[in-house]
Amino acid sequence: MANRLCRESKEQLVRDMFSRIAPVYDIVNRLMSWGQDMRWRRVAVNLACPEQGRVLDVATGTGDLALELARHTNSVVGLDFCPEMIKLGRLKAGRKKMAGQIDFILGDALTLPFESDSFDCALNGFVLRNVSDVNLFLSELRRVVKPGGRVICLELVKPQHGAIGALYRFYLCRIVPLLGRWVSGDKKAYRYLPDSVNNFVNIAEFQNTMKRIGFHRVDYRSLSRGTVAVHIGVK
Ligand SMILES: C[S@@+](CC[C@H](N)C(=O)[O-])C[C@H]1O[C@@H](n2cnc3c(N)ncnc32)[C@H](O)[C@@H]1O
Repeated sequence: MANRLCRESKEQLVRDMFSRIAPVYDIVNRLMSWGQDMRWRRVAVNLACPEQGRVLDVATGTGDLALELARHTNSVVGLDFCPEMIKLGRLKAGRKKMAGQIDFILGDALTLPFESDSFDCALNGFVLRNVSDVNLFLSELRRVVKPGGRVICLELVKPQHGAIGALYRFYLCRIVPLLGRWVSGDKKAYRYLPDSVNNFVNIAEFQNTMKRIGFHRVDYRSLSRGTVAVHIGVK
C-alpha cells in the first residue's frame, strides 16, 4: 500500500513537471547539452539497428528519439503518459512530414498496452531516473520485444571522481538549474534534474539490474567524456 502510494506520488510529480516545462523542453535540452543531445539520440538509434522493424520509443516526450528512428523505419510507436509532451511530438512529426510513420500513444511505461513479443526493438531516452520502478520498467520493455530484440536506454550518468567528474558535477548541479530556471521560469524542474541524476544508480549497478531482469549481452557505450551512457541489452 505504502509502495503504491509512493509510486503514484512520484508519477504525479513527474507528469506535472513535464506538463509545465513541455513548451521549453526542447530548447532547454539543446542549451544544456551544448547541442549534443541529438547526437546522443543518433548514437542510440544506430545501436538499435531498427531498419525495417516495428520499434517502440517509451517515454517519447516531444518525440525527438521517435523522429530519429523514423529516419530508419516506417513503423515507430512513441508512448508517453504526459499529454502536453506528446501533443508537441505529434505537431513536430507533422511539421517534418513524418506523422504517418509515428504512432503517438498516451500510456504508462510501467504497464505497456502492447502484446508480448510485438516489437523488434525498444528504446528510451532520459527516463530511467524518472520512473517509479526501474525493475518493472525494464521487465515491461523486455516483455514487449521479440526474442533476440534489443532494448536501448540512453541516460545521463552520475558524476564520477576526478577532474572531469568535478567539472560535470559543478555544471549539472550549479549551472543547469540556473539555465533551466532562466529559460523555463520553473524553479523546481531543473533542480529535480541534478537530484535525479545523483540519486540514480551507477553504470555497473544498472548493468546488473539489466542482467537480473533477464537481458543478455548487456553492454554500454560511453559518450561525451562519460557523462552520458547508452545501455544495450538483448532479450
Ligand atoms: C526527460 S523526458 C525524455 C523525453 C524523450 N525521451 C527525449 O529523449 O527527450 C522524460 C519523459 O518520460 C515521461 N515519463 C516518465 N515516466 C513515465 C511513465 N511511467 N510512463 C510514460 N511516460 C513517462 C515523461 O512524461 C517525459 O515526457
